[in-house]
Amino acid sequence: MSILIRGGTVVNADTSVLADVYCEGGVIQAIGNHLSVPNHTETIDASGQYVMPGGIDPHTHMQLPFMGTVASEDFYTGTAAGLAGGTTSIIDFVIPGPKQPLMEAYNEWRGWAEKAASDYSFHVAVTWWDKSVHEDMGILVNEHGVNSFKHFMAYKNAIMADDEILVNSFRRCVELGAMPTVHAENGELVFQLQKEMLAKGITGPEGHPLSRPPAVEGEAAHRAIKIAEVMNVPLYVVHVSCKDSLDAIVHARNAGQRVFGECLAGHLVVDESVYRHSDFTYAAAHVMSPPFRSKPHQEALWQGLQSGNLQTTATDHCCFCADQKAMGKDDFSQIPNGTAGVEDRMTVLWDAGVNSGRLTMNEFVAATSTNAAKIFNIYPKKGTISVGSDADIVIWDPTGTRTISAKTHHQNIDFNIFEGRKVKGIASHTISNGQLVWIDGDLRAVKGAGRYIKRPAFHPMFNAMDTFKQQHAQGKVKRK
Ligand code: URP
Ligand code: ZN
Ligand code: ZN
Repeated sequence: MSILIRGGTVVNADTSVLADVYCEGGVIQAIGNHLSVPNHTETIDASGQYVMPGGIDPHTHMQLPFMGTVASEDFYTGTAAGLAGGTTSIIDFVIPGPKQPLMEAYNEWRGWAEKAASDYSFHVAVTWWDKSVHEDMGILVNEHGVNSFKHFMAYKNAIMADDEILVNSFRRCVELGAMPTVHAENGELVFQLQKEMLAKGITGPEGHPLSRPPAVEGEAAHRAIKIAEVMNVPLYVVHVSCKDSLDAIVHARNAGQRVFGECLAGHLVVDESVYRHSDFTYAAAHVMSPPFRSKPHQEALWQGLQSGNLQTTATDHCCFCADQKAMGKDDFSQIPNGTAGVEDRMTVLWDAGVNSGRLTMNEFVAATSTNAAKIFNIYPKKGTISVGSDADIVIWDPTGTRTISAKTHHQNIDFNIFEGRKVKGIASHTISNGQLVWIDGDLRAVKGAGRYIKRPAFHPMFNAMDTFKQQHAQGKVKRK
């Protein structure tokens, strides 16, 4: 299939330019004016619209087995929903169970993901430690294109990584040129606070944020950052939800440490009052970790994005329907943690970020696509409209509107945390791997069309850090 996108403004993270874009064979072949193209080429009129790199959601959990159930969204339905919202790649998580070999879990997830409609990649979680984990990390990096490993500092007695695991795994990441990432919450504190709330008779969803206050997140982020500093390894902190963990990131970055932060569309616009709703189903539908926070924390996240201290936006898309959430009817700590958003992230960020003047269009592109591609080492294959890049493109109609609702969304979940939100700025067309898959409300996602994307290790970046540190030690770099 060859496609000519005519008359739009190409918006990348660094430039905006009026130009046509020609795609063939799944790749962007030419960008310019008055391009001559073959006769059979499909032409899309993009005048008045923006032609942007397809979104990359670096944090999703399709069909995740978690907390005694399995997330309702599978790799087909989830990636198809993403395409409807302009997201053309996801990075999901392989999460081995306690003592499960990493390679066994990885192969399991690769099998599940074969039905994906868009491109996908995997972070792999390190949930326990022994010699085989050390070895499997090497196989994953060197043979399977995994360059990031996830550490859950929460979920005690399940998948939590303690300090011993963090240190061993971070050290291995240095050897391999891989990026450690953390879910930063102090799992012991959460565990104790949950017991305290339940003992006080607080059994409903309002107990969820009370057992996970911002300091619990701030402590874990600070600890992970300090471990990364000692191990001399970069660090990516997922779903930063509050000022406490953001401050730890800003402090480290100001000291020259290579720390990255991700925030979720949900954390930017949904606040903690949802947990006090009298209807259990409504409140439980919002239970995710870290929880939604108060407005001052939301404001801090926006400032984090605006200042560049937070680089990426994600969704942590992890769907549980009302019957699944009901598992925690009498005990909030048993409510499966997770909320959806892969379809809505870009429109919510555009509406609340660009329309409000907080972000420029170019910053929007950086935060929804380019920065994730760079941080996880798939740039410029992904994350840019450039000749030679994958033809993963969203054509963005800044005047288009939508009222978000579970009744009309494509996500396989009976609830939407953005329900009723009127947004301006939507995907009119999505092109995935050179195929037109979303045309003004018509979803043409193809099961199995998505490809597994390998992500190479980061040796050049690590070397740059080492060089800097050596120069610093030799007094060649002066700090005030
Ligand atoms: O509540 C959440 N976030 N569920 C998914 C697992 C995780 O912590 O990322
Ligand atoms: Zn998490
Ligand atoms: Zn997650």
